[in-house]
Amino acid sequence: MAADASGKMLVVYYSLTGNTAGVARDIAGLARADIEVLRDFDREPPLGALAYIKAALDALRGRPGKLGSIACDPRNYALVVIGTPVWVGRMSPAVRAYLERYRDYLPHVAFFVTSGDTDASKVVGPMEAILRHKAEALTGFNAKELADPRVRSDRIATFVQALRQREGFFPGVTRTGAVLS
Ligand SMILES: Cc1cc2nc3c(=O)[nH]c(=O)nc-3n(C[C@H](O)[C@H](O)[C@H](O)COP(=O)(O)O)c2cc1C
Repeated sequence: MAADASGKMLVVYYSLTGNTAGVARDIAGLARADIEVLRDFDREPPLGALAYIKAALDALRGRPGKLGSIACDPRNYALVVIGTPVWVGRMSPAVRAYLERYRDYLPHVAFFVTSGDTDASKVVGPMEAILRHKAEALTGFNAKELADPRVRSDRIATFVQALRQREGFFPGVTRTGAVLS
C-alpha cells in the first residue's frame, strides 16, 4: 500500500526514563500529530541493575526488543517521526524492532534522539540502514540541552517547522531547506 498523502504525521517513540517521552509529546503537540508509545516487554520498569546491563548488551548486539501492541498503522501517515534514547551509542532495541517490522511502510521518516551526551548523527546511520533510505530530518538533545527549557523548546520548534516545510507532507507549502541541528 502506498504511503498516505494527507499530510498526517505520527510520532513514535520509546522511552525508559521519560526524556524521549517528553520530547515526543512536545513534538506531537506542536505538530498536531498522533502518537504511538512503544513498549518493550524485555524490560518493563522498574528495572534492576542487571536489567540495565542486559539493556546495554541488547542495544550493543543489535537485538530487537519485544514490542507491545501497535495502535497506529504507519501506512496511514505521510510522515512518521521516530524517537529513541541512545543506549551504548546505539538506538534502543524497541526502536530497532519497530524499524525492522515496519521498514516497508516507512517511506518518509524523521528521527529525534535523546542522550546523555552523544551526537544524534552518530546514532542514525544504523537506523537508516534498516530502512535502506535516509531520514527527512534529524534532531537530538543531550542531557544539558534537555534541562535547558529554552534550548529544548527552540530546537523542537525548529524541527517541527522543518517537518512542516517538507514538500508534500503539508500541501501548498514548499521546501525551504531549513537547517536542522
Ligand atoms: C542502558 C543505557 C545506556 C545508555 N547509553 C548511553 C550512551 O552510550 N551515550 C549517551 O550519551 N547516553 C546514554 N544513556 C543515557 C540515555 O541516552 C539518556 O538518558 C536518554 O535521554 C534516556 O532517554 P529516556 O529517558 O527516554 O529513556 C544510556 C542510558 C541507558 C539506560
